[in-house]
Amino acid sequence: MNNDPTYLGCVLSVSGSSLIVQLTAQVRSGLLIIGGRTHRIGQVGSFVRVPQGYNNVYGVISETAESTVTGVADLDSPDHRTIKVELIGESVGGEFERGMSQFPSIGDEAHLVTEKDLKRIYGSQTDGQVVIGKLSSSDSIDVSIDLDSLVNRHSALLGSTGSGKSTSVSSLLRSIVTDDDVILKPSARIVLFDIHGEYASALGDISTVYSVFPQPGEENLFIPYWCVSPESLIDFLCGPSEPVKNKFMDAVVEEKKEFVRVNDLNIDLNKITPYTPLPFRLKKIWYDLVHEDNVNWDGKEKIQPAYLEEGDYRLLVAPKFKPPHNANDGRVTKGGPQSMKKQLDLMRSRLLDSQYEFFLSPGKWTLDDDSKIESDLPGLIKGWVGGEKPITILDLSGMPSARLDLLLGSVLDVMFEAAIWGRNLSVGMKKKPLLLVMEEAHRYLSNENNGLSKEMVRRIAKEGRKFGVGSMLVSQRPSEIDETILSQCGTLFALRINNATDRARVKAAMSDGLSGIVDTLPILRTGEAIVTGEAAKLPMRCRFKVPKEGRFPDSRDPKVSESWSEPYNEMDYTQLVDSWRQQNAYLQEGQE
Ligand SMILES: Nc1ncnc2c1ncn2[C@@H]1O[C@H](COP(=O)(O)OP(=O)(O)OP(=O)(O)O)[C@@H](O)[C@H]1O
Ligand SMILES: [Mg+2]
Repeated sequence: MNNDPTYLGCVLSVSGSSLIVQLTAQVRSGLLIIGGRTHRIGQVGSFVRVPQGYNNVYGVISETAESTVTGVADLDSPDHRTIKVELIGESVGGEFERGMSQFPSIGDEAHLVTEKDLKRIYGSQTDGQVVIGKLSSSDSIDVSIDLDSLVNRHSALLGSTGSGKSTSVSSLLRSIVTDDDVILKPSARIVLFDIHGEYASALGDISTVYSVFPQPGEENLFIPYWCVSPESLIDFLCGPSEPVKNKFMDAVVEEKKEFVRVNDLNIDLNKITPYTPLPFRLKKIWYDLVHEDNVNWDGKEKIQPAYLEEGDYRLLVAPKFKPPHNANDGRVTKGGPQSMKKQLDLMRSRLLDSQYEFFLSPGKWTLDDDSKIESDLPGLIKGWVGGEKPITILDLSGMPSARLDLLLGSVLDVMFEAAIWGRNLSVGMKKKPLLLVMEEAHRYLSNENNGLSKEMVRRIAKEGRKFGVGSMLVSQRPSEIDETILSQCGTLFALRINNATDRARVKAAMSDGLSGIVDTLPILRTGEAIVTGEAAKLPMRCRFKVPKEGRFPDSRDPKVSESWSEPYNEMDYTQLVDSWRQQNAYLQEGQE
């Protein structure tokens, strides 16, 4: 008979990384009182300790069942109650470590893990640990995660809609960079892609916000067209057309050479390709292509174009030419083939579309007539990753959603290339790592979607660690996210998930044999998560710190019953339609 109050029972069988423990008669009631606190026994998700000499092996309960070993179905006998335990790590001396150096054997004692033990596991606040919240089972125990593995090994935060993902992300990021409102990581490089414009309200005080429709205190978001791959750019401008694409690529190279010449850059002109990251004048290319397509010449020598009007590329006015003469007198000679009219017209209307101003007329990143530019790529990268505040929020909500993939993918491309080429420099991400937080990841990482963003996220997931780029995916549909990408996420934060398909995907992605815990996903509270993987010492169920009042993301549930109970008043919908027509959700009431 064992008199230790924490004694649960003995090990009945060991297979792989799991144990079956037979509970003793003393724990029949299901409750143990130790040190004045009540502990529930045999709860799925709680921990078990198996002493091994001076060391302790720890595991998590994944199942409780009746013993089938004896084959006796005497349900009243507590001797037949068993628990299944998945082993997760051991403590040698005082320090807890993942992984096992020795396995328990049959007959070993299994003990309840008390609060004191847990404090030993979680409480060793060595460097690099970030407190993110409290253990669900005990409000007095802080939960911390390892920041290095969180960033280097990527992570995913998954949960059904309304399970508290956005709130948890803002709480998590705040925990990472601050403690009690004091900024502890002033040089953090965190870029948050905010698809719905929710985060400015939650993290405004510790972040620089870039938006297409900047509010007071926010910066203008520009994604210059010249940092997009020219192939994707021409597809966007005039749809797929091989002849136009070929001409466009050649023109891009010429324009890039011009930029190098005018600005006296130290780059070998012969090595410039369409992909060399250099600005170029898009309107000029449009003009030149139209010119080439339409030109008629004065005389057979084809030196002087037969202008009716010269046009102006800055204003997107096309040149007009005199019609060719039929008689072979050499006065006006037919020149261009006029085969690209449709595509070039489309390109012009795109260039004039005000929705795309942030992209096609990118503020100080626009080239002037002489191929000079006020701010070049270094300024752009600095704004995105090197701001004064630890977090940069790129609010993509004002962008045409059909182009999300292209634009987000291009920003990721710039950042990843910057990481690759800066790998030996002190400004590079290897010296100062970059964390990319991607909200609503299922929208551009789904299995069907094969766009630029997915390609980039795949690359980052596979190679990011070598260049100091980590990603955190946030999604409500884990089952729709590309499997390769999800499998690269070393740390998982699983919030409430109702849908069985999504749950199955999360189960498959969890590295530890924690099926029993995954089954509790539908009953998690809002803002509660199961954290497993590289950054977590133990798989744990915890609650993120609740943001202070006024620091929630702008995603609070609409108050249905309250607003429906208000007295009826007639409303005017003009403003709504104005916003829609101007594609600007930030028009103030009363503003035209
Ligand atoms: N820890 C928390 N405590 C209290 N309320 C919370 C907590 N976390 C979230 N909420 C509330 O739950 C609601 C949904 O939260 P949130 O917007 O974070 O969910 P979400 O998972 O991001 O949803 P979606 O998938 O639709 O973006 C909001 O009203 C939010 O204020
Ligand atoms: Mg959300």
